[in-house]
Amino acid sequence: MHQTRIGLGLAALGRPDYINIRSTTKIDKSVNAFKTNAFRVLDEAYHLGIRDFDVAPSYGLGEQFLLEWQHSRAHKDVHLSTKFGYTYVANWEVGFKGKHEIKEHSLAKLNEQWEISKAFLPNLNIYQIHSATLDSGVLTNMKVLSRLHEIKQEHGLKIGLSSSGTQQENIIRESQKVTFDGIGLFDSYQVTYTIFEQSTYTILKELIADNKTVIIKEALANGRVFGNTDFKNYQTAYNYFESLSTRYGVGIDAIAMRFIMDDLEPELILSGASNIQQLKQNLKVLDFELNTSDISQLKSFTTSPQDYWNERSNLVWN
Ligand SMILES: NC(=O)c1ccc[n+]([C@@H]2O[C@H](COP(=O)([O-])OP(=O)(O)OC[C@H]3O[C@@H](n4cnc5c(N)ncnc54)[C@H](OP(=O)(O)O)[C@@H]3O)[C@@H](O)[C@H]2O)c1
Repeated sequence: MHQTRIGLGLAALGRPDYINIRSTTKIDKSVNAFKTNAFRVLDEAYHLGIRDFDVAPSYGLGEQFLLEWQHSRAHKDVHLSTKFGYTYVANWEVGFKGKHEIKEHSLAKLNEQWEISKAFLPNLNIYQIHSATLDSGVLTNMKVLSRLHEIKQEHGLKIGLSSSGTQQENIIRESQKVTFDGIGLFDSYQVTYTIFEQSTYTILKELIADNKTVIIKEALANGRVFGNTDFKNYQTAYNYFESLSTRYGVGIDAIAMRFIMDDLEPELILSGASNIQQLKQNLKVLDFELNTSDISQLKSFTTSPQDYWNERSNLVWN
């Protein structure tokens, strides 16, 4: 059985706008305020025992913040992961209209982003394709795959991919065909898995049994696990989450993360906390265990991947 660790993702810490469902609280969106907050959250996370940190070039200044933090703190025992394939284009413009990140899975983009990300060595232990898809052709692009293999050989790190959307399982299956000298290129999978989207359960269990690193992202369904009248489809689930939250004396975030920990047993679940308070609440996940009846009830709240991802694509960045 895996002892699941909690890691910290920087998606909400490195740029002024991200998916933000509930909070109407106004915060200071200057670069300085974000940097101060990011350093505080990183320090607190380390203090509370977190050793795994995930970032991407498209998380605004996330890579820069994490790099500066790592250089100034010089922690020897942290494991960092980053990605290639998306470029941040919102230029810290608050309320930026249009896409904030542009996808490009080319060899040129890989080389360009690797030049920057390699500064995380020697603490970089996973390098990932950001949001691999079947359409982008990245899983059959031999130039990109060979370069990733070269990076893996040269630096002894794990190569991974992250996935999103209704095709997550097919993407993972496709990636398993990529081998060099008979050995699979991919060692690590960063996958969306939440109470409302459990369609990858079987494949993730297979990966875990095969000693691959499974990292869960979006465990809180981007905030949709918290009671919200905008999502009529989840009202029964919300009532049940409330009852568990009261019974265990923890927040709904901890319930949602604990469900994944107890049922799926991945190596890592990423907290996407945007401040210290959320981080501390998320970490309550380590203080209790769900029983089998809670788990089977929570399993029943999964929805169809089509509905889930349709809803996900309609969430606004603000
Ligand atoms: N394609 C990819 O590779 C990809 C995509 C997505 C995420 N990720 C990774 O996974 C990490 C986690 O994912 P995520 O942050 O997108 O999704 P998430 O964990 O499902 O949602 C995080 C959001 O939930 C809210 N939240 C967290 N704790 C809370 C609490 N105690 N009380 C109330 N609200 C709380 C916050 O929203 P508010 O800020 O609105 O309060 C936070 O931004 C990211 O940081 C990133 O490293 C990777």
